[in-house]
Amino acid sequence: MARKKIIAGNWKMNMTPSQAVELINTLKPLVVNEDVDVVFCVPAIDIIPAIEAAKGTNIVIGAENMYFEEKGAFTGEISPEMLTDAGVKYVIIGHSERREYFAETDETVNKKVLKAFEHGITPIICCGETLTQREQGVTIDFIRQQIKIAFLNVTASQAASAVIAYEPIWAIGTGKVATTKQAQEVCKAIRDCIAEIYDAETAEAIRIQYGGSVSASSAPELFAQPDIDGGLVGGASLKPDFGKIVCYNK
Ligand code: 13P
Repeated sequence: MARKKIIAGNWKMNMTPSQAVELINTLKPLVVNEDVDVVFCVPAIDIIPAIEAAKGTNIVIGAENMYFEEKGAFTGEISPEMLTDAGVKYVIIGHSERREYFAETDETVNKKVLKAFEHGITPIICCGETLTQREQGVTIDFIRQQIKIAFLNVTASQAASAVIAYEPIWAIGTGKVATTKQAQEVCKAIRDCIAEIYDAETAEAIRIQYGGSVSASSAPELFAQPDIDGGLVGGASLKPDFGKIVCYNK
């Protein structure tokens, strides 16, 4: 069965609650594409108004982060149950900005992934190399390690439902999009890695996004690659251009 594309916006630390509602109202007529699952991952404080604003549309709301404990003395964190109770379906885990600025590691990523599955939230698991790693020729080795640790103790059926976002760090927010060849090569390597950990069926089912300076002009070619099942979009997800990205095949 063909994998359905999934195109997600990552708003990062942008949009107040009222701006969030305004943006969703602007974008909702522009992001209608029955071939694509459309997800807006928004700051925690925007989740409830965003879900309200997205009611009756094809937009599904996701979170940008989640803690791996159930509840308790973890000041400032958001629990999985807080997300599910609010109606969140997806959560970005291990974005490179969280790894870089908030000390997330492959181990905390794995804990969060397991916790998300436990609560029925689909994780969008991020991986990606630095420019130095790419220049050193260790990209695939590095990504394979990130993936293997992220999926420790994850079952095959859970893995089949997961989303992986390949985001080369040097392409994030830089306007420097990976070539389709580079993006496809790594997304294929990720799928091969999933096949090794699990089996061919799981690898066929899992959805792998590309992220890093995706724009309306780069999206059609990227998303036409055999192993790229959509995108995780930062800057362009805050603009009407996101409609063009979602409707890349129209
Ligand atoms: P940009 O699309 O702004 O490069 O951000 C990519 C990203 O980090 C999405 O998670």
